[in-house]
Amino acid sequence: MITLGIESSCDETAAAIYDGERLLSNIVLSQTTLHEEFGGVFPELAARRHLDHLLPVVEQALEEASLTKKDIDVIAVACSPGLIGALLMGVNCAKALGFALNIPVIGVNHVKAHLFANFIDYENIAFPAVGLIASGGHTALFHMKSKEDIHLLGTTLDDAVGECFDKVARMLNLPYPGGPEIEKLAKTGNPNTYPFKTPRVKTSPYHFSFSGLKTKVLYTVYGQNGKNSTPIIPKENYKDVAASFQKAAFASLLFATKKACEELDVKSFLIGGGVSCNLALKELFEKELPKSTTPYFPKKNLTLDNAAMIAALGHYQFLKDGASADDLTASPTSKKAFTSI
Ligand code: KG4
Ligand code: ZN
Repeated sequence: MITLGIESSCDETAAAIYDGERLLSNIVLSQTTLHEEFGGVFPELAARRHLDHLLPVVEQALEEASLTKKDIDVIAVACSPGLIGALLMGVNCAKALGFALNIPVIGVNHVKAHLFANFIDYENIAFPAVGLIASGGHTALFHMKSKEDIHLLGTTLDDAVGECFDKVARMLNLPYPGGPEIEKLAKTGNPNTYPFKTPRVKTSPYHFSFSGLKTKVLYTVYGQNGKNSTPIIPKENYKDVAASFQKAAFASLLFATKKACEELDVKSFLIGGGVSCNLALKELFEKELPKSTTPYFPKKNLTLDNAAMIAALGHYQFLKDGASADDLTASPTSKKAFTSI
């Protein structure tokens, strides 16, 4: 069964072809430079750019897989959560293609798809597992009893971890997206220079909060007057700020994840989302998670937003539950609104 995946929830226009066992193509067109001057994603611009690029990206995915539209059996599309205008472009494209080709369409959850990225490359992942989403839009911890039975343990009460990387990068005058820039700069810095406290939500250890850490970095760099004032530390110290910030942010992710792995006595740990391509995070988790928990990290091109994960989840869901109803639409869904996926 050939599944076409379509992803347009934020600032990547993506299409991929999956045959149930292998990825035949995985095309991602990033809009990063379009949004750079705003220091974050400009939703209306993102939606318009998706409209221009969706069909060419689908064509490219088919060409790379040496297939034509007639070979597609089912179309999977990210329908929630995300930027509503951006999601609608993907959903409407999928529905129009489905109608024209007379094939079923299935809407899938983008966050769940990030976890399913692991099943593309790794076979026989043992359950129960703990899943962590660390992206620009979400930070959430899940108890995965099976592929179907996935419950939210905790989420961020304010910023997502990737969002926090992006905001700290702006404070250090680094371009958007900030995560890769902070990772690069942190490699040259001393993580013990600024002892930022590991952010924790005392009453709910599975939840996250990054806004306090973000403010602490702001005050460290600019003093109490904030971003519009002159920095109070020299530029050569920015590398130490980046390293110290990254250390504290990852210690927070590790604290909740390790606790969940121990308390729920899980066999596997799965991660997903753009932040999970950070090598310092991978090394920390591989070293610190309980030895009885096998950690899985998707390949870099499957951690950042992509359509391969959408195709993989759509393929699985279609075989299990069939297609979505004709009234399939997009839903933005707040990052705090879901309890299971
Ligand atoms: O999963 P993703 O592509 O999009 C969302 O669903 O949000 O994640 C994008 C986020 C951005 O905030 C970006 O700064 C962050 O992932 N990111 C990183 C790294 N690469 C991307 N954060 C830390 N280290 C990285 N190497
Ligand atoms: Zn994502």
